[in-house]
Amino acid sequence: MLRSRLFLRIFGWFWVALAGMLATLLLMFLALDAEMVSTKWTPATGNHLLKPYADEALRRYVNEGSAGLQDYIHSHQAASPGRIYVFDSSGRELTGQSASARVRAMAAASSDPKQMDLRLSMREGVLSSAAIGPDSKKYAIVVEMERRPHIVPAFGLGAIWAAVLALVVVALLCLVIAKQLAAPLLQVTLATRRLAGGDLSARALDAKMAKRQDEFAALARDFDNMAARIETLVHVQERLLWDISHELRSPLTRLSLALGMARRKAGSDAKSALDRIERETEQLNSLIEQLLTLARIKGGAGPPMNEIVDLAKVVSEVALDADFEARARNRLVSLATADVCETVGSRDLLKSAIENVVRNGIRHTTEGTEVSINLAVKEQEQCAVISIRDHGPGVPDSALRHLFDTFYRVPETGEKEGSGLGLAITQQAIAAHSGWVKAENASGGGLLVQLGVPLCPVNSASVTSPESS
Ligand SMILES: Nc1ncnc2c1ncn2[C@@H]1O[C@H](COP(=O)(O)OP(=O)(O)OP(=O)(O)O)[C@@H](O)[C@H]1O
Ligand SMILES: [Mg+2]
Repeated sequence: MLRSRLFLRIFGWFWVALAGMLATLLLMFLALDAEMVSTKWTPATGNHLLKPYADEALRRYVNEGSAGLQDYIHSHQAASPGRIYVFDSSGRELTGQSASARVRAMAAASSDPKQMDLRLSMREGVLSSAAIGPDSKKYAIVVEMERRPHIVPAFGLGAIWAAVLALVVVALLCLVIAKQLAAPLLQVTLATRRLAGGDLSARALDAKMAKRQDEFAALARDFDNMAARIETLVHVQERLLWDISHELRSPLTRLSLALGMARRKAGSDAKSALDRIERETEQLNSLIEQLLTLARIKGGAGPPMNEIVDLAKVVSEVALDADFEARARNRLVSLATADVCETVGSRDLLKSAIENVVRNGIRHTTEGTEVSINLAVKEQEQCAVISIRDHGPGVPDSALRHLFDTFYRVPETGEKEGSGLGLAITQQAIAAHSGWVKAENASGGGLLVQLGVPLCPVNSASVTSPESS
């Protein structure tokens, strides 16, 4: 889609620009049509262009009169497209032909037999000169080249085909230019999209592009350098997080052991302080567990991904457990529909991905309301979609696209629980199954989170869970 849009745009603009240039050139010719050349011409050898015609015409006129001149003009016209006019010194055309104002004006202006007046345009050409007849009188001779009344006859039908051919050639030229411009740009754009989508290994420079010496290759090289740097930084950060989490585990285990011993030795006065230490330790423990889980999935060191997972079964288990937990907080979790379907991957990972979303729902849904879960097979997309919707306040629209970021928590909610890792784990777990996640505010309030996972090739019919009936 992006490919064709960019290509068509570049192609379109170039074609319009070149066709516009052709049209402008044509218009310029037409504008010049009015008068391309207007000059007084005095060849050193005298007026040899018109002189032979003038001599013959005047000889015939003086010897044979107007009829002789007419005869000469007709015979001349039969052989060439020019029309000859002869004027006497009073401005009278000697054969009685009707002459245009321009021809008359040029005849009147011709006074020097050695000089030729020439006016040329795209459509006509007029030559005039003075001449002395055998009777020693002064005359003016004017030759008017045929006037073409219309642009199409002027250029002929062949010119239209030439214009069509020119446009086709221009189109082919634009096609090549557009391809040359669009291909490297598209390559960089697609690589940028992959990087933005989380694929840190995305690079723009391939063997073909590397051979180029232009700005596109430079852009691709700069992009690759940037991507490589981001990849290194992210890996260093992930490694650091993993190392810290891992190293904190042992002191935390020792802290729990010491806490047990302290409980036994301390009196009842220390109970509330020790309870607090225990709660904080548990929270720290769960945070570290989550961080390690996230790091494992990201690093591809999670559980094996080759189980055939019965999604309906997983979803019902999560719903049942979560409902038990929710009821203690005066809320409900219900499984509306669960199409029977299977996917390939890790059952544990999928379960924790769904659980994280459902737990959020329980925490945020308004007291007395329910969190509903839906599992639907989308035959066309060959995927199963798990939808989890609560009836809480939802999140600000600006927060929606950050919900799955690591450590992201919606600001200014005053929430004390949570560390912003649950949805990040969900996203990584679903991504490990080549699936997708989506969050939106549901119409009527509450947050709707959808998780899509690819289906196993064979899947059976839709059933409704016992809970919903
Ligand atoms: N159903 C929901 N309704 C409203 N806000 C939500 C909902 N689910 C998530 N959030 C917001 O999204 C943020 C990120 O959720 P996430 O599950 O990643 O982290 P958490 O719940 O704060 O912590 P953790 O899950 O790691 O214990 C939460 O802090 C919360 O503000
Ligand atoms: Mg959470």
